[in-house]
Amino acid sequence: MADSDGATSSADDEIRSYGGTPDDPAVRKRVRIRHFRRAKEQGIRITGLTSYDYLTASIFDAAGVDFLLVGDSAGNTVFGYDTTLPVTVEELIPLTRAVARAAQRALVIADLPFGSYENGPDMALATAIRFMKETNAHAVKLEGGVRSAEQIRRIVGAGIPVMGHVGFTPQSEHGLGGHLIQGRGDAAENLLEDARAVAEAGAFAVVLEMVPSAVAARVTAELDIPTISVGAGPHCDGQLLVWTDWAGLTTGRIPKFVRQYADVAGVLRSATEAYIADVTNGVYPAPEHEYPE
Ligand code: KIV
Repeated sequence: MADSDGATSSADDEIRSYGGTPDDPAVRKRVRIRHFRRAKEQGIRITGLTSYDYLTASIFDAAGVDFLLVGDSAGNTVFGYDTTLPVTVEELIPLTRAVARAAQRALVIADLPFGSYENGPDMALATAIRFMKETNAHAVKLEGGVRSAEQIRRIVGAGIPVMGHVGFTPQSEHGLGGHLIQGRGDAAENLLEDARAVAEAGAFAVVLEMVPSAVAARVTAELDIPTISVGAGPHCDGQLLVWTDWAGLTTGRIPKFVRQYADVAGVLRSATEAYIADVTNGVYPAPEHEYPE
């Protein structure tokens, strides 16, 4: 059966069905929510990164990442706030639009910021519709398990895919008493209940943030939908990281679960120092950088 992309083969259901390198446009197909479910069935790990702008989104997409989350972590990484609480819909819409413009293959997910869905399903749906209409994102994400289930149900009922987010939910940082691991000891049952509520409400995947690996393994085994780990260990169906953390751009505290893959801050710092030195010493611009008359 042909789908809306005109694709017919069963390989079309596979998240990595491209036959060449991921950045070859000829073999790139948009990742869809059905690919998430199929990846879980096949035991293929799903990869995600946050992104907040056109250039990084283009790079991550060409490298083959499966989804890009325009997270409200932009509050910390883009806007310099201490928490994600002040982030607004108006601030995230232009960032999401830029990422969606860049992503040719990755599924783009817009994070609903604090204060834009808590009042109930009507408010949540209105915000989700704004993101879908104004940014070209393919899905939305919101925080909370049992407490957000009705919001998820309403958004999904309107045809908008939702990624859930349970465990440590940064928008509830003050209610949770800080950046604390969730689901330890007796709290594991509450976490399972939250994850089940998200799945039953119709979410296509759920982020587990800062959860003990063994608890994340239980959730992953129980749910039909993929679990995406942010500091929830290796047993989840996929992984997600804030890109500035693993790339070494974030200054300050980096969570224990992040592996450093690069030192982008170091590269930029040295390049900036070299530029300042060249300009102050009259070495740059050189003749090759000048326009002839
Ligand atoms: O905003 C964000 O980047 C997030 C992820 C860390 C899950 O919500």
